[in-house]
Amino acid sequence: MSSRVLVTAALPYANGAIHLGHLLEAVQTDVYVRARKLAGEDVVFMWADDTHGTPIQVRAQREGITPEELIARAYDEHLAVYRDFNIGFDIFHTTHSDESRRHCTAIFKAMETKGDIASRDVEQLYCPHDQMFLPDRFVRGTCPKCGSADQYGDVCEKCSSTYATTDLGDPRCGVCGKTPELRSSKHLFVPLAPHEAFLRQWVSGEGEEPTVLQDSVRNYVMSWIDAGLRDWDISRDAPYFGFEIPGHPGKYFYVWFDAPIGYVAATDRYCQDTGKDFASYWLAAGQDTEIVHVIGKDIVYFHCLFWPAMLHSAGYTTPRRVQVHGWLTVNGEKMSKTRGTFVLARTYLNHLPPDYLRYYFASKLSAGQDDLDLSLEDFANKVNADLVNRCANLASRCMKLLAGKLDNRLGDLDEKGLALVEEGRRAVAQAAAYFREFENSKALKLALELASAADLYVTEAAPWKLVNTDAERARTVCSVGVAVSLFVAAILKPVLPQWAENVEKMCRLERPLDFVHPIPVLPRGHQLGPYIALAERINVANLEAMIEASKEESAKKPSFTYEVEPLAAETTIDQFGPIDMRVGRVLVCSRVEGSDKLLALKIDLGPLGVRSIFSGIASAYAPEDLLGKNVVVFANLKPRKMRFGISEGMVLSAAGLDGSITVLEAGERALPGQKIG
Ligand code: MSP
Ligand code: ZN
Repeated sequence: MSSRVLVTAALPYANGAIHLGHLLEAVQTDVYVRARKLAGEDVVFMWADDTHGTPIQVRAQREGITPEELIARAYDEHLAVYRDFNIGFDIFHTTHSDESRRHCTAIFKAMETKGDIASRDVEQLYCPHDQMFLPDRFVRGTCPKCGSADQYGDVCEKCSSTYATTDLGDPRCGVCGKTPELRSSKHLFVPLAPHEAFLRQWVSGEGEEPTVLQDSVRNYVMSWIDAGLRDWDISRDAPYFGFEIPGHPGKYFYVWFDAPIGYVAATDRYCQDTGKDFASYWLAAGQDTEIVHVIGKDIVYFHCLFWPAMLHSAGYTTPRRVQVHGWLTVNGEKMSKTRGTFVLARTYLNHLPPDYLRYYFASKLSAGQDDLDLSLEDFANKVNADLVNRCANLASRCMKLLAGKLDNRLGDLDEKGLALVEEGRRAVAQAAAYFREFENSKALKLALELASAADLYVTEAAPWKLVNTDAERARTVCSVGVAVSLFVAAILKPVLPQWAENVEKMCRLERPLDFVHPIPVLPRGHQLGPYIALAERINVANLEAMIEASKEESAKKPSFTYEVEPLAAETTIDQFGPIDMRVGRVLVCSRVEGSDKLLALKIDLGPLGVRSIFSGIASAYAPEDLLGKNVVVFANLKPRKMRFGISEGMVLSAAGLDGSITVLEAGERALPGQKIG
């Protein structure tokens, strides 16, 4: 047994809402933490939001808010929803924090001093319009293998081949749609090859403090090492929402460098808040600290190669266990927005109690990394059969009878009852061991078997009949039901803390249930408290309503924080008729001497000839931005004499109330002169 245990779940991205997939991981981690705490261990659950990177920056820009505002909003939502699901983290911090910055700096500097940071030039696509380097996911273009248009910069969704972004045909910026250019820039790297011996030892689990990995995870991580360890690019150029790398102006830590450091930062903050000793957790390599990460199978590479290498290099404590879970599917398929099975955690809570989902996930979770299916029918059946009909029914039948006709006092147990108590003791000890190994479904099965055995005993003895002929015998039977309910509640406790608390209250226990102290057999004459309902049948209508709400949720547009001009009064098509709009191709575009508003354009209208047009777009476009573009021209507008010359038409653009301007493009297929309507 380690003297200190530190558990984490992956840090959710701040650019999205928490959905049921996230909750699977949260529940798995929470049950593990609660079980080990109940076993008397010194366990902390350190958690945070993951707040940096390009997607957050771009999303904030689209919504017209700052990244700081976006992550603050996400933080509040994430924290509230995890609290409402009764996830027992000891802290929920953020990677956009002083502690994070400090540890990023410390770890980076330590690595740099050791010679574990390299640098070299990298060629990457750059969007001159957005003035940023484009991550793979922010480039769209033609797949170099199969020729499908509009594919991501790293992988084709049609033929699944992967490639370098620079091989993409006709690349376009994923933010603005313009053609990016290739630019070279210095990047910082963590070469992994020098850490190969350490990583092999860490992965194999043959070190002094053996690492615990699932066999299959160990195998594929080892096969990655065998395939050759490559350098890891950890810097990104400005503008990037994150931390600037100390000593490297204009370079920022790639989000995956600072994300796991969020685990460390959360611990630091937690220790400041509670007066605990931070160093004993993360700076005590080789000592008795057990760090356990719970993650999904998509982020194994980061947690089993990069992260241990970083920690090892910087002299921090390396993880003792990485527990990988599979993917959540709903009704046998990937969660789908159109089918309404992409269910947000908040939407679930609007329709159903959190404990049902906690129970369902836990009852299906094992230590493996198989995908887990939430079948809605199975969900309802399982909750009704296991929780309502078995566990709650045992307690409610016995307690209600005691309260109603037996002045709510317990009696002696009979021989069968004592045998069930013995069975209960064994089950609780065994369940505690299962929980410690992430074998939740096995642990919960013990509770169900116990409840079933007791339920059978009660049903056969039929105390509701006995109570009229032999009240003391009825009291004994009910007391057995109550005694066993305590063992059942103890096993359920990491999963259903509220349930356990209710049972503790009803039984007026001196001390809350745990896995350390023997579960008490209450003495004859013990007075029970009033009955509290433990679980109610699931209503299938609520499930259906949740799916409907999820469909609506997904169809809803994101909320915008900017305003647009109100819509003009309704009109008819004949109002549109006299206005003749044509496709025009920009032949020449230049600045206008003496004006910082106007650009002078020569626009080809094909068979209709070339027009000279002045357009007030110089604040938003450099002349070269528009060259060769097809734009939309109000072509029968009466020519107008301006200070700089005659303007023969108007180029259409979209205007924001903040003064931003976007010239309308007609796309590449349209031909100059074609009529628009
Ligand atoms: N921010 C990173 C993790 C950084 S950890 C230092 C990230 N965030 S995430 O929000 O995309 O995912 C958080 C966790 O939820 C991951 O472990 C991921 O595997 C898990 N899941 C996300 N969708 C899931 C399912 N549909 N099913 C099960 N787990 C899923 O990755
Ligand atoms: Zn762009």
